[in-house]
Amino acid sequence: MTSAQQGRRVLITGASGNAGSAIARLAREAGFDVRLADVAPPNDHDLGDGEFVRCDTRTPADVDRAVRGCDAVVHLAAWHCAHEPPVSDETIFAVNVDGTFNVVQACRAHGVSSVVFASSMAYGWGGVYGVTKVVGEDLWRMHHETTGASVALLRYHDFVPKPYLAWGAMLLRNGVDRRDVASATVAALHGVMEHKVDVFRSIVHTDHGMPASVAGHFADQGRAWCDEQVPGSAELLDRYGIELPTQVEQHDLTEADRVLGWRPRYGIVDFLADLRRRDARGEDVTSLWAPGQTPE
Ligand SMILES: NC(=O)c1ccc[n+]([C@@H]2O[C@H](COP(=O)([O-])OP(=O)(O)OC[C@H]3O[C@@H](n4cnc5c(N)ncnc54)[C@H](O)[C@@H]3O)[C@@H](O)[C@H]2O)c1
Repeated sequence: MTSAQQGRRVLITGASGNAGSAIARLAREAGFDVRLADVAPPNDHDLGDGEFVRCDTRTPADVDRAVRGCDAVVHLAAWHCAHEPPVSDETIFAVNVDGTFNVVQACRAHGVSSVVFASSMAYGWGGVYGVTKVVGEDLWRMHHETTGASVALLRYHDFVPKPYLAWGAMLLRNGVDRRDVASATVAALHGVMEHKVDVFRSIVHTDHGMPASVAGHFADQGRAWCDEQVPGSAELLDRYGIELPTQVEQHDLTEADRVLGWRPRYGIVDFLADLRRRDARGEDVTSLWAPGQTPE
């Protein structure tokens, strides 16, 4: 436990969601005093004894009550495009834009000067959702410009809950492990609490540690590279029908490492090593879900 964080109260909005529950857990482990806010309490039993505030971010009075008394806010509450049944564009806009505006207003009213905002790799494209993240980032930039608050804007890649094998395949595409989402967010929380940044933006993505020559020609070189990292994995990729992309997208994440001390830990090599272990034990991996995740 980091004693420096003891007694520092952090509000997490959308705390009952997929990212929220993992972030809340990690923030608690780091010593933060976590207040959870959501329209419904968390299902996770281990979070059940934490402070929970029922809050619809579209309702300013709810938000005001949730933010009051907090030193920092991690604003996650939003609807995205991967929910079943789908959420309407109207609701996505209202929660993601009006809701974020209300959280900004409450932060200004209560002098909250440390904020982490869940943005997305969908920033600016693909419809209403992507636009709501543009507006969200701008609202938080305004909060910095008008109050001097320290703000981190994290553009997460895809961590929507998936079956284990689909999750492994997704890591080679636009996916990121939820554990890396949580560690990036808590690293950013430390960064904004210490006012290390004015407005800091980072992509939150996987790093496979793969040479650019392999990433750029993955269809030709990927199987051999995987097999070199985890012997036997070429055969596993075939047997479990894991399709390889033609190229693997990799981002330069060195700034997040330099500024926040964060780097992703879970890539395709970890997945393949885990798959090999499970396969050797004769486990039925087709019925598993990604680590720590369950169907929505
Ligand atoms: N899941 C992804 O792949 C992904 C990728 C990029 C960015 N993001 C962003 O990360 C954040 C968390 O995503 P997630 O996948 O954990 O989502 P999630 O749907 O699992 O959780 C979102 C939470 O927000 C809550 N919520 C919805 N409307 C609310 C309201 N009006 N007031 C209060 N709470 C409300 C929901 O009850 C839910 O618990 C979101 O901002 C999302 O846009 C997610």
